[in-house]
Amino acid sequence: MNENFKLDIKKRPRRLRKTQTRLALCEETHVSPSDLILPVFIKEGKSGADKIPSMPNVYRHTIDSLLRLCEKASKKGIMAIAPFPQVEQSKKSLRADEALNPKSLANRAIRAVKKRFPEMAIVADIALDPYTSHGHDGILDASGEWILNDETVEILAGMSVLAAQAGADFIAPSDMMDGRVGAIRNILDECDLSDTAIMAYSAKYASAFYGPFRDAIGSAPKGKTKKYLDKKGYQLNPANAREALREAQLDEEEGADILMVKPAGHYLDIIAKIKERTTLPIAAYQVSGEYSMIYAASKNGWLDHERVVKESLTSIKRAGADMILTYFAMEV
Ligand code: PBG
Repeated sequence: MNENFKLDIKKRPRRLRKTQTRLALCEETHVSPSDLILPVFIKEGKSGADKIPSMPNVYRHTIDSLLRLCEKASKKGIMAIAPFPQVEQSKKSLRADEALNPKSLANRAIRAVKKRFPEMAIVADIALDPYTSHGHDGILDASGEWILNDETVEILAGMSVLAAQAGADFIAPSDMMDGRVGAIRNILDECDLSDTAIMAYSAKYASAFYGPFRDAIGSAPKGKTKKYLDKKGYQLNPANAREALREAQLDEEEGADILMVKPAGHYLDIIAKIKERTTLPIAAYQVSGEYSMIYAASKNGWLDHERVVKESLTSIKRAGADMILTYFAMEV
């Protein structure tokens, strides 16, 4: 350096980055296991867990192996799970009848977990896609192109009561029908389930990042040219932010206890905007495609897995999420 060169500045932000201690003292965002909700896939049967090819290290569990997973999770400090059932093909129908079975796979799993691990919070997914033969989140009209809103909400409300009676802590409608939060709140209250909370998927986008999830629960239609369903008639347009604010506001007015944004990583602006406008806690769902993308790149040696996982979760929290649904929960 030229000896005459002198940078005359008083403010040097790097001072605070000089030592590990200074860095740690100034750290604004921490992700801890108690912020995380582990999504889990479940299936019928007694045999062990299946691999999911598009989601390395994630398995589809029988109820028995789910209980073992819960034990491991609670040892790691994970206090909440969100089960998603892979419903047998023979139980799927146009009207999603199995969704209203008190002994459905999902309801049996909730009961079994609550019995063994009463302190484990359960987020029950409320949507019809695991149960419909076409894989949509609702009942199709005669044209086969449009999901009937009110008919779908009626089933979701019934499904919510069953999940709450099975012991779910949170009812989490992920269908994006209009008015479902209010209908669910009403019916829960009528059934003396006023302590069951609603975690509303308020800003759920019509995202291409759900692909691996649809493989995992088997809701991707088979043998069609288009591999994944188009859900743009109910999920939000990824180009829109104001529409997400309107959805969040409606869910809050209808009685949601927690508002969710999904996916997370590419929707940090939405998390931050909703956070500014509500005093409710915010959840964000780091979805299957986000998980698989990070996994694929790190398996190839292109990214440092541990650091990327941590950075992705920290960013979601920094944007304003109070809790994160993530398939990385066990690793963190
Ligand atoms: C459907 C549902 C989806 C996810 C959770 N619930 C997918 C969809 O809308 O098709 C996606 C989660 C993920 O990708 O990890 N009700």
